[in-house]
Amino acid sequence: MSDKPVLWITRKLSPATEARAARDYEVRLNPEDRVYSGDEIVAMSSEIDAILPCHSEIFSADVASRLSDRVKIIANHSVGVDHCDLAALKARGIVVTNTPDVLSQATAEIATLLMLAAARRAGEGDRLVRSGQWTSWSPSFMVGTQLTGKRLGIVGMGRVGLAFAHMVKGFDMELHYYNRRRLPPEKEMNGVYHETVEQLLGHCDVVSLHCPASPETLNLMNSARLSLLPDGAILVNTARGSLVDEAALIDALKSGKLAAAGLDVFQREPGGNPELSKLDNVFMLPHIGSATRETRDAMGFRALDNLDAFFSGHEPSDRLV
Ligand code: DGY
Repeated sequence: MSDKPVLWITRKLSPATEARAARDYEVRLNPEDRVYSGDEIVAMSSEIDAILPCHSEIFSADVASRLSDRVKIIANHSVGVDHCDLAALKARGIVVTNTPDVLSQATAEIATLLMLAAARRAGEGDRLVRSGQWTSWSPSFMVGTQLTGKRLGIVGMGRVGLAFAHMVKGFDMELHYYNRRRLPPEKEMNGVYHETVEQLLGHCDVVSLHCPASPETLNLMNSARLSLLPDGAILVNTARGSLVDEAALIDALKSGKLAAAGLDVFQREPGGNPELSKLDNVFMLPHIGSATRETRDAMGFRALDNLDAFFSGHEPSDRLV
């Protein structure tokens, strides 16, 4: 019997993360990488002191209320924590942490990829070549939208929004942004601040979403807000699927109100939306914003740093509640 805290790592993480965890904790792993249900999480909780979950494990108010008193900390392997009912976990005295910063660059890369792919019709082009249906070329063939000099609107100028704005500087886009609070001038990158999302949208040839999922941002991009965009705009979403009303998005993509969309996140995950899949002007990825080898290690280590701080009697640097 070791005196190390018992840590349950709910999904298969990077080898470096699992090796470091095994050095300092008595670990329970999930080599099959199965997704556990709420009831299974509750059943497991009597044997563990700490949980290191991903956004795939749901800690609803119900699950939080039934977790064993033994569980002291949930150290998430994600920056988003919409899978956790923070108020309910706080009420149980359970500490919750996340992994900010370390995935901002990787997610900004995916936002850049989605923006380019949507603007330049990369999905359509790839399908055409692969299917053997690329039989002619003409100057009017597969004409897309040039990004250089266009207006980029960022909703949520936090870590990822800022990383994205920095990354795409080379496109010489005119930057506009909405954030709950205006950034200090030295961080604004000459961007134009808008006090509301509604004010921002009319200035966006491309709009990219970078705000957290919350009751306030549910269906943020609904039909009323989509209608405020200039005709032929492009929507990019690497944040959470719940920010976009997918039925309204489909209407806007079909009518030409939107020229295209680039999406890494969906209302239903895994799986996506079969109606979106029928549209040629959507470029989609399966929620891989932070999926690089480097970032997976960094996320795992950041979660372990939070656990190490907690179990050595210090404040975890990414404590949320
Ligand atoms: C995050 O960290 O929130 C990413 O979406 C992966 O879970």
